[in-house]
Amino acid sequence: MMAYLDYAGLGRLRPPAVDAMRQALTDVLPHGSAEIGQIFPARRRARAAMATLLDCAVEEIAFVPNTSTGLQLVADGLDWRPGDEIVVFDQDFPANVHPWRALIERGVRLSWVPMRDGGYQLDDIAAAITGATRLIAVSHVHFATGFRVDLDAICALAARTGALVCVDAVQSLGALPLSLTDTPVDFLAAGAHKWLCGPPGTGVFFCRRDRLPLLRLPGGWFGFEGANDMFTEGPGHLRYDLRPVRTAARVEGGMYDVLGLVGLAATLAELADIGMDAVAGRVRELTGRLRTGLVEAGCRVHGPPNANTWSGIVGFTHPAVAGVAFARELVVAGIHVSHPDGIVRVAPHYWTDDSEVDALLTAVTRRLS
Ligand SMILES: Cc1ncc(COP(=O)(O)O)c(C=O)c1O
Repeated sequence: MMAYLDYAGLGRLRPPAVDAMRQALTDVLPHGSAEIGQIFPARRRARAAMATLLDCAVEEIAFVPNTSTGLQLVADGLDWRPGDEIVVFDQDFPANVHPWRALIERGVRLSWVPMRDGGYQLDDIAAAITGATRLIAVSHVHFATGFRVDLDAICALAARTGALVCVDAVQSLGALPLSLTDTPVDFLAAGAHKWLCGPPGTGVFFCRRDRLPLLRLPGGWFGFEGANDMFTEGPGHLRYDLRPVRTAARVEGGMYDVLGLVGLAATLAELADIGMDAVAGRVRELTGRLRTGLVEAGCRVHGPPNANTWSGIVGFTHPAVAGVAFARELVVAGIHVSHPDGIVRVAPHYWTDDSEVDALLTAVTRRLS
């Protein structure tokens, strides 16, 4: 492989995660309950690191298998009333549309924000919000064009009418910094398998502390205070009248992906060492080079090249070559990109070498000359 530029599709599991998971696989899991206690603390470490990454409280973090599960918790958890409206975004990834569309049969209406030039305009978002808007369901970064919305502006619009904001952050978390203290979204979900370079099947759900009572959440046995006391109090002490845990972890239910969280804790620790500003700076530098090089090669780069809307994704097309075919040719040549929605999607990360960007630009220029 000459170049890996598909972090928007699937991240590459980082070496510290591989090492930690390998050790858990060989030294811990084959010994069952005799050794499992060694790796249970990984979830606590991952939760603390995730809270630091998102600049929120540990009580606001829950681990879920993927973005979809987190978004579905909000769709299932709010007490929808007929006539409630949800603002959704045209051309958004289906994972952030299906849960809301399913609510139509309960009398909920969807209000669509149109896509223009690969992005969304604040005026259009404002126009989609009415007094009946309960929720704005937005993706931080568009999966194909890479357009990043202004979450602060969206939160400010939502605050005018008291609407809630739910963010799909799978295309930004791990590439761009986000402070949930400064940016007051209510809910956020993101799989860790893309920009966080964590194990597929791990992800995060954030629920702002004072929003937790708004959600009717599933409650597995881990979701109750004192659930573990049955192991210490002796026979005949099983109690079922326990109080639900009053943190986002309530949704975690029962036994979880212990191995996955060992990997996630390792990858989050590495990111914390590097620092999100350094990560985002490098991503910006590489995507800037890609954007310039692709335009020079005659490609149309999608999404406005605005200083505030850039992300880790550069999507491009060329009139002479269909996007899907173009992407496939690049992959065959050892340059890993993807092609959602017919756009060639190039997505470098902090760890991407300059030579990988060069390889892509050379291949595209050659193909088009
Ligand atoms: C914006 C967006 N949301 C959601 C998903 C998928 O989410 P999940 O983690 O549920 O697989 C993707 C995957 O490409 C995506 O780009």
